[in-house]
Amino acid sequence: MEVKTSLLDNMIGVGDMVLLEPLNEDSFLDNLKKRFDHNEIYTYIGSVVISINPYRSLPIYTPEKVEEYRNRNFYELSPHIYALADEAYRSLRDQDKDQCILITGESGAGKTEASKLVMSYVAAVCGKGQEVNKVKEQLLQSNPVLEAFGNAKTVRNDNSSRFGKYMDIEFDFKGDPLGGVISNYLLEKSRVVKQPRGERNFHIFYQLLSGASDDTLKKLKLDRDFSKYNYLSLDSAAVSGLDDAANFRTVRNAMQIVGFMENEMQSVLELVAAVLKLGNIEFKPELRCNGIDESRVKDKNDLKEMCELLGIEQSVLERAFSYRTVEAKMEKVSTTLNVAQAYYARDALAKNLYSRLFSWLITRINETIRAQAKTRHKVMGVLDIYGFEIFEDNSFEQFIINYCNEKLQQIFIELTLREEQEEYVREGIEWTNIEYFNNAIICDLIENNQNGILAMLDEECLRPGTVTDETFLDKLNTICAEHQHFESRLSKNSKFLTDHSLPHNCFRIQHYAGKVLYKAEGFVDKNNDLLYRDLSQAMYKANHSLMKQLFPEGNPAKVNLKRPPTAGFQFRASVGTLMSNLQTKNPNYIRCVKPNDKKASHIFTEALVCHQVRYLGLMENVRVRRAGYAFRQAYEPCLERYKMLCKKTWPHWRGPAREGVEVLLTDLQVPTEEFSYGRSKIFIRNPRTLFFLEEKRKQCLEDLATLIQKIYRGWKCRRQFLLLKKSQIVVAAWYRRYAQQKKYQNIKKATTVVQSYARGWQARKLLRKLKHEKKCEEAVTTISAYWHGTQARRELRRLKEEARREHAVAVIWAYWQGLKVRREYRKFFRANAGKKIYNFTIQRIMQKYFLDLKHNMPPMSPIDKSWPPRPYLFLEGVHTELKRIFHLWRCKKYRSQFTEEKRAVYEEKLKASELFKDKKALYPSSVSQPFKGDYLEINKNPKYQKLNNVVDEKVLLADVVNKINRANGKGSARILLLTKRSLILADQKTGHVKASVPLADLASVSASTQADGFFALQLKEGSTSAAKGDFLLSSDHLIEIITKLHRVSASFSEKEPIGLDISDEFLVQFKHDKVCIKFIQGSPKNGNNASCKRKNNRLLEVSVPVSP
Ligand SMILES: Nc1ncnc2c1ncn2[C@@H]1O[C@H](COP(=O)(O)OP(=O)(O)O)[C@@H](O)[C@H]1O
Ligand SMILES: [Mg+2]
Repeated sequence: MEVKTSLLDNMIGVGDMVLLEPLNEDSFLDNLKKRFDHNEIYTYIGSVVISINPYRSLPIYTPEKVEEYRNRNFYELSPHIYALADEAYRSLRDQDKDQCILITGESGAGKTEASKLVMSYVAAVCGKGQEVNKVKEQLLQSNPVLEAFGNAKTVRNDNSSRFGKYMDIEFDFKGDPLGGVISNYLLEKSRVVKQPRGERNFHIFYQLLSGASDDTLKKLKLDRDFSKYNYLSLDSAAVSGLDDAANFRTVRNAMQIVGFMENEMQSVLELVAAVLKLGNIEFKPELRCNGIDESRVKDKNDLKEMCELLGIEQSVLERAFSYRTVEAKMEKVSTTLNVAQAYYARDALAKNLYSRLFSWLITRINETIRAQAKTRHKVMGVLDIYGFEIFEDNSFEQFIINYCNEKLQQIFIELTLREEQEEYVREGIEWTNIEYFNNAIICDLIENNQNGILAMLDEECLRPGTVTDETFLDKLNTICAEHQHFESRLSKNSKFLTDHSLPHNCFRIQHYAGKVLYKAEGFVDKNNDLLYRDLSQAMYKANHSLMKQLFPEGNPAKVNLKRPPTAGFQFRASVGTLMSNLQTKNPNYIRCVKPNDKKASHIFTEALVCHQVRYLGLMENVRVRRAGYAFRQAYEPCLERYKMLCKKTWPHWRGPAREGVEVLLTDLQVPTEEFSYGRSKIFIRNPRTLFFLEEKRKQCLEDLATLIQKIYRGWKCRRQFLLLKKSQIVVAAWYRRYAQQKKYQNIKKATTVVQSYARGWQARKLLRKLKHEKKCEEAVTTISAYWHGTQARRELRRLKEEARREHAVAVIWAYWQGLKVRREYRKFFRANAGKKIYNFTIQRIMQKYFLDLKHNMPPMSPIDKSWPPRPYLFLEGVHTELKRIFHLWRCKKYRSQFTEEKRAVYEEKLKASELFKDKKALYPSSVSQPFKGDYLEINKNPKYQKLNNVVDEKVLLADVVNKINRANGKGSARILLLTKRSLILADQKTGHVKASVPLADLASVSASTQADGFFALQLKEGSTSAAKGDFLLSSDHLIEIITKLHRVSASFSEKEPIGLDISDEFLVQFKHDKVCIKFIQGSPKNGNNASCKRKNNRLLEVSVPVSP
């Protein structure tokens, strides 16, 4: 084998069993298990792929994977079926080598899946285009059709192929698919009439019954119920995960794509229905006069329907189930059939019908998919056939299958060795003989024309006289006794005489994959595979073209007296054709292994796998592969991989690769017998040597890694250091600049200070000089000013002196003149003239004062405050007195205009002012309100007529008040009437008098200091009214009510008027208790109304909103 790159890297276990060291069954299984546990289901043996069924979908078949494996070398990536498919496809396309892919393994091991994976891979990577895609589609769609008719649920596999299939896919020179040819082998037709426990008949029966429309079923005269059909086992009709109805649609669709006409499909379904009907035909014995039982059809309904379906004359078929015609040399002899024979004939007919239908389907599919072009095709064959079968009871079928596998092994050996040999020749390596087990001897035992087992079986079947399975076994015992691989108890070979594992009716063959014990029973029958001629003739007579085609031997025109070839013979012939077909092709092997019997993922049953490994001959496989050289590799990749192991080749080898490898191996002192130099490849005999190289390489890689790390770290540190150094210089430069800047700024600052001191000193000096100069100038000015001042003052004094003298002169002159006048007129003046002048002056002044006052009189309104100002201080007293007198006079004048009522009103307002001013906060708001008294207009309003009648005196006040309920503090409206003698409370609605209190019984009235309207009427103790308790009322006209009450009480009694108590806490007698009424300032949230609440039986709290 040839390793290009990394198959050896990151491997779980060993990817290629050829490299397994040590090689034995245990290590082989361990390796498989280890890989399986890590989801590596593929392992190589050289170019053979072992595939273990994972029983679950793995994400390894994606389009990405296809791309990954596309055009890559086989060993380049980890083992995969795609690598094999790619290798096969590429050597077909590029090297023009026909390929075959041989897939073997036991039932349920994944053969069919593998073949589909190969086909889908090839479909994905080969050319594209409308025509090509159509061909691909047809090739792929042939699968569902074949699976429906050829697959069934078995205990091992829910979709087990019950036939061997070989498909040749044909490609043109570009590698585009042109078409294909399918061959089938050995359909397990016994399944049509009988299925083992837990298994089903072929899928198509169930699909038809569940998926077909009612209409179709009616046409086919079928019923949906599986249990109505004898040929359908009952116990496993529905399989989980299989949707028969949906699959039916898929099959019909696939048939359409593959090119079936509508009428063909119908015919096929009619035959399927006919098989079901056939199974329901039952027989009963009828005693004939000759004393022999003859069979008769029991219930003819099914027979009738079947005949209608196929266009067969019922009587013909009925007769064929009761009689059998034997023709010999122009003579016809008719014998009756007993019931057992009739059943045998019926089942034989059903089996033949179905298997011929199946073969016809394949022929029909081939017609469509076969390549048309006449040019030479390249071919890729895919063989999906049963692997070795070793059951408890092995019969004719197993014998034949195992024979087929022996032949495949032959091919394997031949082709592998041939390829090996060819390569050695190509590479110029001496061919050394390889030791391995060649199974040609076993093939010979079975197929030898003279004394092979199959030849003897045929001989027995054709021999006249009684032929039974026993006579057949006897024959074998005689003829094969000496054969190394044949074992039988009764053979002449005495060594088996005492072997109790060998029953008498059995023989055992040592196949290359193990010993298999066959039961001789049934061999003759199955090999004969007889269908009575009457039945085939009846079928031929059918008015149904497909039926006619299937039974050509029934044609009376072509009566052939020769016996048809036996099953064994046919099979041997077709295996022969297959083998010669395969031999011309380059083989690719896929060996499928089933990990467990439970169809379960993750379970690896070692015993089961071991068994398969044995009979698949996998160990043999490895041995043959390793017989020569275990490992080979082209020089270039080999040198590339190991060049680090030698100083001369590391890191570069300049010469040719081959010499490099030679130098390398010599340097490593690998023994010369371990390898050979081919033309382009190095051949290594033993895996050990390869592992030695790998081990060395691993170590060396570690050292190299350390070296690389070392150099990298050094480089990194150096870089780091240089970077730090560079940064340090930058930092230092910045710092120095900063320090210098700072120093410069300091010097600049100092210079400025010094400069300023110097300038200051100079400026001060200058200032001093200037000040001195200024002072001098000022001194001069001052001196001159003083001088001028002195001069001016001297002049002023002189002028004043002069003026005084002149004035003195004038005064003296005036006195002198006055003296002279007085002396002259003294005789004309009376003695009291001075007093008269004084009185006259005063009189004149007073006269003017009064006249002015008269003209400036203020207005007559009593509230006017103006008064003219006083002209002379000495008139102060008079002026004030006159103002007072005037005010009194004008008030009198004003009052004298009042009417009687108005006077009363003012008197009341006056009284109210006396009672409440500065005592209750409600008062100021009442001043502007007129006291109306009768708010209800009681004698005019007819509503209060009744009330008016009750009161016989004049009503002084009528108003609606709230009477506060003593229990809860809630108010209820009452009419309050006040007359001269009593106070009456009446119901507001009805006018009904509730209480009438003589004023004489009233002791006092209490109200709060706040702006509320609550007031209490306290009654005199002991009075008649007191029994009911005091009244607590509230009114908007509190000021008016209490004032009126006070005035009335004062007027009618000579005694004291009733007391008025204004305070925020007072006591009220409620029936028996004294309750304290307490007023508090509440929040304005209650609105503008005061609210009253009974706190307890001693306290009633009135909350008065704070007036804004
Ligand atoms: N590669 C695979 N990946 C996933 N499941 C698989 C694979 N191969 C086989 N199987 C499962 O195993 C079942 C049996 O496989 P099949 O190919 O029909 O077996 P065989 O043809 O050998 O009897 C399939 O139906 C499928 O569920
Ligand atoms: Mg299969």
